[in-house]
Amino acid sequence: MCVMTINFHQIKHYIKHYLTARRGGHGVHSPFAFQLCEEVFYNRNSFYDLDELQKTRTSLLNSNTEIIVEDFGAGSKTFTTNKRKIKDLVAKGISTAKQSETLYKLINFLNCGAIIELGTSIGLNTLYLAKANKNGKVITIEGSKNLVEFATELAKKNNLNNIEFIEAKFDEALPTLLQNNSPSLIYIDGNHTYDATMRYFNLALAKKDNSTVIIFDDIYWSPGMTMAWNEIKNNASVTLSIDLFYFGMVFFREELKEKVDLKLFL
Ligand SMILES: C[S@@+](CC[C@H](N)C(=O)[O-])C[C@H]1O[C@@H](n2cnc3c(N)ncnc32)[C@H](O)[C@@H]1O
Repeated sequence: MCVMTINFHQIKHYIKHYLTARRGGHGVHSPFAFQLCEEVFYNRNSFYDLDELQKTRTSLLNSNTEIIVEDFGAGSKTFTTNKRKIKDLVAKGISTAKQSETLYKLINFLNCGAIIELGTSIGLNTLYLAKANKNGKVITIEGSKNLVEFATELAKKNNLNNIEFIEAKFDEALPTLLQNNSPSLIYIDGNHTYDATMRYFNLALAKKDNSTVIIFDDIYWSPGMTMAWNEIKNNASVTLSIDLFYFGMVFFREELKEKVDLKLFL
């Protein structure tokens, strides 16, 4: 979830989440979900990559460079013009360190090979996805040309060559991408409307296999996003859903005999 202007819908669900979500893996019966809690969500080990990425984040947080960004998808509740300072985008328009670090640990643990990210922005989160498995490949899609250029440069500066940047609208690029790739992780982080989210989910669903994980950012951004999340987690092929408030993820593993819906407080 990006740090956007907070609305009543988010506050209501945050309080509910705060009061009802688990704060660790204790009591989680599914061995796979328990392992995720131990190795990913509550794993406090330090990672060299994460220390390095934090340095990159801090330097971008001080960057006064301005960039003109075209508006795509559901629009921004935070920015009123198309001109953005990089430091404002890092502070308010992209995944926080905690969210990106969670994705890094998840990819690292699951050893995800092919990853698709919808919504590159400045490409900082993309670095976490790419560094988590340097033998894997990240394909990231962004509609705004200037952001794609910035993100491409950022990856070069970080010596990462396992990222493919695609400048396109999600609806144009995703069907073909899914035809030609079998991603083990799909991170949907843009165009936060009910219709678009369900469309991307249904496209990804047709391509999923036993080990696929699909992650949706900003599931409490609006009533429409929460409605989409509830439908997605109740889909018959989902065997495990994890609601982290900032984002929700669904798994399709058939070895999970009983369906599990977890809410975790990070
Ligand atoms: C929240 S930002 C992505 C942040 C990034 N994934 C992260 O974790 O830091 C969403 C991005 O998606 C792009 N976007 C939104 N809707 C889009 C669409 N329909 N097609 C292409 N790009 C889109 C926006 O331009 C924006 O840069």
